[in-house]
Amino acid sequence: MRTLRTIAEMRAALGDARPGLVPTMGAFHEGHLSLIRAARADNDVVVVSLFVNPSQFGPGEDLARYPRDEARDAHLAEAEGVDYLFAPAAEEIYPSGFQTWVEVEQLSQPLEGALRPGHFRGVATVCLKLFNIVRPRRAYFGQKDAQQAAVIKQMVRDLDLDLELRVLPTVRDQDGLALSSRNAYLSPEERTAASALPRALATKDPERALALLDGLDVDYVEVADFDPRVLAAAVRVGRTRLIDNVVLEEGAPT
Ligand code: PAF
Repeated sequence: MRTLRTIAEMRAALGDARPGLVPTMGAFHEGHLSLIRAARADNDVVVVSLFVNPSQFGPGEDLARYPRDEARDAHLAEAEGVDYLFAPAAEEIYPSGFQTWVEVEQLSQPLEGALRPGHFRGVATVCLKLFNIVRPRRAYFGQKDAQQAAVIKQMVRDLDLDLELRVLPTVRDQDGLALSSRNAYLSPEERTAASALPRALATKDPERALALLDGLDVDYVEVADFDPRVLAAAVRVGRTRLIDNVVLEEGAPT
């Protein structure tokens, strides 16, 4: 596996290849690895991007303390047979004078968008940039970030991007908690409290879910009309904000 830092190096390495791309912010867990394995199975060439994207964090959010361990991530990616790890510096993606942004207007408004203004603008912009740099045939996202997947799907459709999106099921720990790089912030007591979130969502009923989240700081529990429809929730446990969702349609990724 080669680790590449610049857009020019990435383009030169790929030539005419149309790889599978797994966009990530690092701190790999089994959720990331399931995306990487799917990409490895589907594509001749696999690129994993590792970039903690500053433009999707709001003021006061966890950009500075977001877990970073590139050496560990590189080791895991290599063990999964990844060909290229694209790990640019922030200035490579957002050079001085950068001023062009992608807004997916309606889908970015509710839920996470209402609580994290500008978040999906940052996500959509960096994903479009990664798609332009890597020119993937397929790109892989997790169903855990259901609204993000919906926003990216809409962008791909609206801007006629020539790639296939694959959205894979959420990977969960034994206690049901969806794997997330932010789980690393939880103390053992907070982790126990957080396990109410998947139990609540498993009811697939917003009122029953809210009752089961009694005692937690709930940002929302709502049915969202994404494709597929989900019951989505966000809670704060101590200083950590967790999101999760359950698919309400049979046969869709869970
Ligand atoms: O889901 C993530 O890790 C990020 O939002 C993404 C898609 C890599 C864009 O920065």
